[in-house]
Amino acid sequence: MFYTTDENRHGLAHDPFKAIVSPRPIGWIGSRGADNSINLGPYSFFNAVSDRPKLVMFSSAGRKHSARNAAETGEFTCNFVGRDLVEQMNISSAAVDYGVDEFALAGLTARKGELVDAPYVAEAFAVLECKVTEIIEPKSLSGEASENIMVFGQVVGIHIDEAIIREGRLDMAIARPVGRMGYMDYSEASDVFEMLRPRV
Ligand SMILES: Cc1cc2nc3c(=O)[nH]c(=O)nc-3n(C[C@H](O)[C@H](O)[C@H](O)COP(=O)(O)O)c2cc1C
Repeated sequence: MFYTTDENRHGLAHDPFKAIVSPRPIGWIGSRGADNSINLGPYSFFNAVSDRPKLVMFSSAGRKHSARNAAETGEFTCNFVGRDLVEQMNISSAAVDYGVDEFALAGLTARKGELVDAPYVAEAFAVLECKVTEIIEPKSLSGEASENIMVFGQVVGIHIDEAIIREGRLDMAIARPVGRMGYMDYSEASDVFEMLRPRV
């Protein structure tokens, strides 16, 4: 089948777009507001976008609390979502009022970053401490702003739980990273294989 997205007539029960772009890593964003309230929320429109310098991005459909806080304070954390913390991650996605602490809601420990004032999930296997570099509103072909706000941040510090380090590498079989698929589906990356790039 083929369809154009101006009319989006895919004929399926649900829009398949996000199922095609999957699995997506989940940026579990910890932040603090100018009023000192703390916040936690998952974002699967999230990725690393540069290695030197290390940059990540999350994209908020409208100005949600994480984007608001990142804009207010210029800092956030990205917390690794492993299979062990999926329930807590899901609880933290509840549409609660601004100022409600989702760390407490999900029974998680909020710890203040080493280099940023934003809180991180102490239970997470890995955490990226980030400082905001840019906030942009991506545009469509017609030049119209999308409803999304993209928050870019430079990773200034990284926490790794020694429990997932084996022979100098992160053992993802222990960390069990969870990805967001389409619909309400998730995947756990358990089938790890290695493939070397071709030599020319
Ligand atoms: C796995 C998962 C991924 C999500 N990804 C996004 C996303 O990329 N962008 C977005 O705006 N909302 C996303 N949401 C919904 C937000 O997490 C939800 O609106 C949450 O309340 C936002 O929190 P905040 O307002 O405290 O930042 C996602 C929810 C889940 C469970």
